[in-house]
Amino acid sequence: MRCVYCSPEKKLRNPREDILTIDEFCRVIRVFTRLGISHIRLTGGEPLVRQGLPRLIHEVARFPGIDDLSMTTNMLLMEDAAKTLKEAGLQRLNVSLDSLDPERFSKITGGGDLSKVLRGIDAALEAGLTPIKINMVVMKDINIGDIIPMIRFCIEKKLFMRMIEYMPVGVAQKELKEKHFPISEIKKLVAKEFTLQETTTRGPGPAKYHQIAGHGICIGFIAAISQHFCESCNRVRLTSNGMLHLCLGHENQFNLREVIRSTKDDSVLKEAILSAIQKKPLGHKFAEHDSLMMIGMAGLGG
Ligand code: 5AD
Repeated sequence: MRCVYCSPEKKLRNPREDILTIDEFCRVIRVFTRLGISHIRLTGGEPLVRQGLPRLIHEVARFPGIDDLSMTTNMLLMEDAAKTLKEAGLQRLNVSLDSLDPERFSKITGGGDLSKVLRGIDAALEAGLTPIKINMVVMKDINIGDIIPMIRFCIEKKLFMRMIEYMPVGVAQKELKEKHFPISEIKKLVAKEFTLQETTTRGPGPAKYHQIAGHGICIGFIAAISQHFCESCNRVRLTSNGMLHLCLGHENQFNLREVIRSTKDDSVLKEAILSAIQKKPLGHKFAEHDSLMMIGMAGLGG
């Protein structure tokens, strides 16, 4: 898919030889786990198009110290994959889904087929890839009208719902900046139909969860721009070609691929990771200047 909020102007074209092999991914993830990383999320682009994904999951799931192994996906290929992924050791899913209207869905995603996504969700529920969290990027003039139907859908299917403020990640995203719709406004719209009760539940990530009174599900709000949470950000992102990104809102990155390929000594790799992490910025700068990153969210995985 080529979602409006995610895709760079030009298609990403990584030279094949730069893409980390499954073995290289396993090695670097193992080193991360030895440093105390316990939550791994496989993202993309779209992780389901990667050959060897079940083997990667199978190996990573068995590393000591892994508490949480999840995946963010567009679900197009999930129907046939759910059972295999669950058996390999994948625990749960985050699903990108911004509209339940087939036409609008297709427009937002650059031609995605909503019915496949819905069948994928059912298959994942049946396979036990739960809890499933639905990621909805809320954008002015684009999918505000979808907020309430999406909540009803999540109530019916017993899914977690997360509403995310649009972030201008990557150079191609300048024009969409005016589509930003703050969480405070989203909450006002939700409150017209549902009673929101703040909960103390906080996952390891950035969402602030609210119960929908009487319906037994939670909505998480991710206010990456209007109430940023940089001080508690505990993420780093490793791209498919082995670049370690320390913040969605900064260009700084560290070439771990070179290190992975230049030594078999894991202690060297460990030192390289530690010194890269020292450079994690204090916070993003979306408000002050436009992103200079070429890859955008499609390369960083959210
Ligand atoms: N702003 C906010 N959220 C985004 N996502 C992708 N691009 C953006 C953006 N520009 C979200 C999608 C996806 C997750 C990985 O990140 O909801 O599910």
